Amino acid sequence: MPGDKSITHRALILSALADGVSTMKGYCRGADCLMTIRALQALGVAIEVEPDVVRVTGRGLGGWREPARPLDCGNSGTGLRLLAGALAGQPFFSILTGDDSLCGRPMERIVEPLRRMGAAIQGRQGGARAPLAIRGAALKGIDYRAPVSSAQVKSAVLFAGLFAEGETRFSEPLPSRDHTERMCRHLGIPLTADGQALVLPGRPAFAGNDWVIPGDLSAAAFFIVGASLVPGSDVRIEHVGLNPARTGILDVLGAMGADIRIVNRRDDAGEPVGDLEVRAAPLRGITVGAAQVPAMIDEFPIFCVAAAVADGDTVVTGAEELRVKETDRIRAMTEELRKINVPVRDTPDGFVLPGGAAVRGGTCMSHGDHRVAMALAIAALTGDGPTTILDTDCIATSFPGFHDNLLELLTLSD
Ligand code: S3P
Repeated sequence: MPGDKSITHRALILSALADGVSTMKGYCRGADCLMTIRALQALGVAIEVEPDVVRVTGRGLGGWREPARPLDCGNSGTGLRLLAGALAGQPFFSILTGDDSLCGRPMERIVEPLRRMGAAIQGRQGGARAPLAIRGAALKGIDYRAPVSSAQVKSAVLFAGLFAEGETRFSEPLPSRDHTERMCRHLGIPLTADGQALVLPGRPAFAGNDWVIPGDLSAAAFFIVGASLVPGSDVRIEHVGLNPARTGILDVLGAMGADIRIVNRRDDAGEPVGDLEVRAAPLRGITVGAAQVPAMIDEFPIFCVAAAVADGDTVVTGAEELRVKETDRIRAMTEELRKINVPVRDTPDGFVLPGGAAVRGGTCMSHGDHRVAMALAIAALTGDGPTTILDTDCIATSFPGFHDNLLELLTLSD
């Protein structure tokens, strides 16, 4: 699998803020992470990129320089929001922008706490949309209770907190992925928990690190569902990240009857990893509610495919965050699955899928969203004829090798 996208973004930014050299083996080569590399280079950070390793010479908390041009984060919400946190504490002016999708996504969720910490941030719609213009400042720690569960918001506040005078406290309604916390602790940054709140003392010094990036479970999920649905499949996926804040899809598929075995569990730089063995199995419908959403937030497009062909009803509630991802994923998956004869219904915060769909070949659109495109490709494997998916360049944002991996598996099975 490609390296984990979330961990790669964080490793790049933390390494650029560290003192000394860091390396990232098995990093994500998706366009999202390459945009973050370019942005950091424009901030004066020396980064060498090789096929399997990235080498970053960190400049410490105060060593970035004012970029000459706007920093383009492409399609990446993680890149833009995490960089905004790190730029809020820099004594210079910067602009963060991205593609049409990213410029349509909500930014007040990071702008509001970063302003409270002392940064001056302007943007479209009063700062609710990118481009964002940031005039960094001497920040002060705040006690922030986020209204949404979001690892991007949490990480933006914590990255800004690295620059702040005094303690930064952060809490959120339900726990989101905790890569930032694990990676900070691995670097010796004294981030602690106080009940539900995270507490970060300002201005810690930290040195570079040699990171080994696990494979991305969110990429593996497409093959896990594909292997579950295509009769006779027997697929092994090695070195996949198994952070419990990300493994919701494995729990839900397991409860639906999937045959997934985790072997060779181990640890890489504070992140649990393992190998997965997946065999085809009949699936049953399931109910997914708000409490389960954060740990499988990126897996709903492919989860819908599993639920479409499962036996019996599936109902998803509490997943309204899907409406503000790379596209409105509730709308996109409903529209596209209907085109291939899946009778899915959208609700304001989720889906109703009756299951047992007889998938028909057809023509679908990706809506410019990598996960929608890959989910539809897996759905197509269950169809009665060929399916064409339009506008699939977006797959390269997270998983440039998806097509080759899929062809390899299909060829092996011939
Ligand atoms: C991410 C967090 C999630 C997820 C995104 C990656 C991250 O977003 O959807 O793909 O790396 O922090 P939110 O935590 O904002 O929901």
